[in-house]
Amino acid sequence: MFIEDFKKENGSRYIAAEYPKTQFADKQFTISLISHFLFMYDEHLNYEFHKRTLSEIIRITSKEIRIFPIVNLKGKRSLFVEKLMEDREYKDYKMVIKKVDYEFVKNGNEMLKIKIT
Ligand SMILES: C[S@@+](CC[C@H](N)C(=O)[O-])C[C@H]1O[C@@H](n2cnc3c(N)ncnc32)[C@H](O)[C@@H]1O
Repeated sequence: MFIEDFKKENGSRYIAAEYPKTQFADKQFTISLISHFLFMYDEHLNYEFHKRTLSEIIRITSKEIRIFPIVNLKGKRSLFVEKLMEDREYKDYKMVIKKVDYEFVKNGNEMLKIKIT
């Protein structure tokens, strides 16, 4: 499905970016989904990187952010999840953990939902 979709419009609907910075405008997206990236590599990307990336995604999102899954490569919930949820810097954003039906990696059936508005 991805390959078929990517072929449309010469792939121009897909834009590469490298966190923690992106080229997108403030609130350019209604919903942002981060899939199998944040939390997953918590042994390689430190908490500061997670914060800088989340702050950037908050900047470019108007309504909601979904980070899925919330486990690391060992299949354990990343310690950064609770740390982010309790971080004073994000106190204005409602964060909840939701179960989902899809599980691609072991124990990866939960997402972190962050309400922006
Ligand atoms: C496990 S893959 C997940 C791919 C896809 N999101 C999915 O769920 O199938 C992790 C991806 O993160 C990308 N990546 C690594 N460092 C990155 C960074 N600093 N900014 C953005 N993407 C990065 C890698 O190139 C890789 O494609």
